Amino acid sequence: MGEALGGLKRSMYCGEPRESHVGSKITLMGWVQRNRKLGGLNFIDLRDREGIMQVVFGEEINAEAFEKAKAVKPEYCIAVIGEVVKREAPNESMPTGMVELKCESIKILSESDTPPIYIKEGLDASEQVRLKHRYLDLRRPDMQKIFMIRNRASKAVRDFLDTNGFLEVETPILTKSTPEGARDYLVPSRNYPGMFYALPQSPQIFKQLLMVSGFDKYYQITKCFRDEDLRANRQPEFTQVDLEMSFVEEEDVIGINEKLIAHVFKEVLGHEVKLPIPRMTYKDAMEKYGSDKPDIRFGMEITDLTEEVKDVDFMVFKSALEAKGSVRALCLKGGASMGRKDIDRLGEFVKGYKAKGLAYIQLKEEGIKSPIAKFLNDDDMNRIISKMGAETGDLILIVADKNSVVFQSLGALRLELAKKYDLIKDKSEFKFTWVTEFPLFEYSEEEERYTACHHPFTAPMDEDLDMIESDPGKVRSKAYDLVLNGEELGGGSIRIHNMELQERMFKALGFTQEEAWERFGFLLEAFKFGPPPHGGLAFGLDRMIMFLAGTDNIKDVIAFPKNQNAYCYLSEAPNIVDEKQLSELGIKIDVKKEEKIEE
Ligand code: AMO
Ligand code: AMP
Repeated sequence: MGEALGGLKRSMYCGEPRESHVGSKITLMGWVQRNRKLGGLNFIDLRDREGIMQVVFGEEINAEAFEKAKAVKPEYCIAVIGEVVKREAPNESMPTGMVELKCESIKILSESDTPPIYIKEGLDASEQVRLKHRYLDLRRPDMQKIFMIRNRASKAVRDFLDTNGFLEVETPILTKSTPEGARDYLVPSRNYPGMFYALPQSPQIFKQLLMVSGFDKYYQITKCFRDEDLRANRQPEFTQVDLEMSFVEEEDVIGINEKLIAHVFKEVLGHEVKLPIPRMTYKDAMEKYGSDKPDIRFGMEITDLTEEVKDVDFMVFKSALEAKGSVRALCLKGGASMGRKDIDRLGEFVKGYKAKGLAYIQLKEEGIKSPIAKFLNDDDMNRIISKMGAETGDLILIVADKNSVVFQSLGALRLELAKKYDLIKDKSEFKFTWVTEFPLFEYSEEEERYTACHHPFTAPMDEDLDMIESDPGKVRSKAYDLVLNGEELGGGSIRIHNMELQERMFKALGFTQEEAWERFGFLLEAFKFGPPPHGGLAFGLDRMIMFLAGTDNIKDVIAFPKNQNAYCYLSEAPNIVDEKQLSELGIKIDVKKEEKIEE
């Protein structure tokens, strides 16, 4: 024991020495940030996770250490022993800048090749290089800070939930398909050739089973797996703070969870989240912001012009209204001076969201300019302008279509304009909102049936129970999402705990009795034995950390993330496996090389 260190023992982190340590003899260990010669001396900046300390070597101080130090290169891992002394030329920008270590002895613990990544604050390497050598990327101080934040946040979550009576229980990773609706990751079974486990998309069913078990309040910080298209805020494996409670209504779940969030933001950032967090119904969120995750850091809400244009003789508006759609618009303050090209670009932008076009009205000093002016009489025009609250200098942007297209396109346009015209003034602000009363079902054009908006165990609102069969599209649910700055941070619902209602739900979703039992039988079976009323929620922990750390890339907050194609440059997973392994699993591979997605 202790051989490799030659009996050395570290006294403190490199980031810790201060003037109060002057005169003491200490041992530091860490990595060489740089090594430079100056006059007859050698200076090594020694780094560990807590900071950097200047170490001085000289003929006078210790000739042997001085000689050894000359050969030391960046990222060598070394130990140094010496006396803390006051620096002649203090460096105010470093926490340790008032002192330095006069090195009496140095031990090279291991050498380093020239690293492919320069270990410093800020980036200078491509994502591929960073991910391939992630252990070096993680050596960078800004990455280490993020993981300290992540650690503090997880601890704050655990402390809060423990104090509030939640039990942490682990649920299986090798399991059966869960109901979150993404594609599963499958794991072939050796014991049952031809059969597969699915990795959980969430612990949803198991946490409901724990309620049947009487655990009353459960939580878990756990990995979830979803094979879906990846984006800046999505990874194939990500972490949820997952929780479930018995004998509760929406108010209870919302109440405890906003306290949890406030606790975490306070502990990690010292930031006070004002409680209660405001709430908005799904309907309002869609109508005002065109999104179920509204960014309320700026206004420019969507305005309904259907009433104002209902008699206007313009085919585009008429056909949208005849098809039970609507005509809605945004008013960009000061936007009237936008050039034709830029307006056309916005038109192209909304087409990406299936809008057929973008009508506009420019309220210029010299008069109104609009391609649809010819369809509007003065009264129509005035009604529109007044409803929009528009003034000279403003630009009105209108979409007419079925509601889903109007909301999607104007919702996206609203965000695009905010980015382009810098409408979010305070970027450090945290604007939370709950979105409630989500629809229970959504119609899938592709599958030609209703699917569950959340998952099939979400309870309908009591007021809407009667419409499950007659008008499923109108039924609202006891589901809620927590949204922060236009991102979904978490979501959950009160669950159905009544078999009869659950069966009506499956029927509405087009599952036969057999299909429902085939998929979720073990939950339905459990529900025969006195399930308590229950509900819960799950937060995306990675997304929470993104906000706490101030990054917009989810990869920054996951130690070993995958790239956009779910590939790991570091381990080179996924990869081929031995023939022997395959034959044990009873699997034959039938994929041509060129079918493989490029990394
Ligand atoms: P949901 O599917 O909304 O709910 O997931 C909860 C939260 O997890 C985060 N999240 C993700 N984060 C990173 N990468 C992903 N691919 C990803 N997918 C989801 C989001 C989301 O809000 N079982 C239910 C919860 C419940 O009903 O209690 C569930 O999983 O922040
Ligand atoms: P047109 O008469 O076809 O030149 O159209 C007049 C304006 O209506 C153009 O600016 C089009 O972009 C716009 N427009 C076309 N379809 C729609 C639509 N569905 N909603 C809003 N504006 C549209």
